[in-house]
Amino acid sequence: MVNFEYSSGATPLDQDEIEGLKLGHITTRDELNRFEQDNINDALQWLGSRRKSDILTEKFIRKLHQKMFGKVWRWAGEFRKSGKNIGVDWHKIQTELHVLLGDVRYWIDNKTYSEDEIAARFHHGLVWIHLFPNGNGRHARLITDVLLKEVLNKESFTWNISSINFENEVRDLYLKALRQADNLDYSALLDFVRADWKQ
Ligand SMILES: Nc1ncnc2c1ncn2[C@@H]1O[C@H](COP(=O)(O)OP(=O)(O)OP(=O)(O)O)[C@@H](O)[C@H]1O
Ligand SMILES: [Mg+2]
Repeated sequence: MVNFEYSSGATPLDQDEIEGLKLGHITTRDELNRFEQDNINDALQWLGSRRKSDILTEKFIRKLHQKMFGKVWRWAGEFRKSGKNIGVDWHKIQTELHVLLGDVRYWIDNKTYSEDEIAARFHHGLVWIHLFPNGNGRHARLITDVLLKEVLNKESFTWNISSINFENEVRDLYLKALRQADNLDYSALLDFVRADWKQ
């Protein structure tokens, strides 16, 4: 059996999900991270070369997850079918996603918030629902950048990218900002997403 350690705010995998690992030779978290990152790099290439279509759809959201993790996990692109310590009841994932997508479209059409705030609220909504068994953070950060660039005509967020993938104070600040957003205060998240505090 493979045993992984989890960084704070990351979702533990169920036994079922661990069995969904396509690459049987992986034994350490480091190796897994490397294979996932290679797969994500493929997804970035695909994103750049694909024919542009509406991204605010369930279809695109699942497809992007599949492109990011499909070489590593059998369940890539499929919604969660079990409860987690975070996220909505898994039976409600599809409904909650459709509500979020409707809200985002409404905010864009009516200019309810600034572009950055629409993107930050979209990001938080996705991770709060927690669509997939794993990869939610990376997927929701990437698709938020796609929303900024392709729909809102803005630069991607920085996400403090030089540090966020590691267990450190910056990641703690990201998680703290998300917990504040759980309580409907988006100010810390808005500060975080455009900062770049090099470690
Ligand atoms: N209190 C919270 N409210 C909203 N979202 C949260 C909260 N705590 C954690 N999250 C989100 O859940 C993500 C972890 O979920 P998951 O393990 O599925 O994603 P990941 O892509 O594998 O992780 P990582 O972000 O570490 O790369 C975090 O990155 C964060 O975006
Ligand atoms: Mg994870």
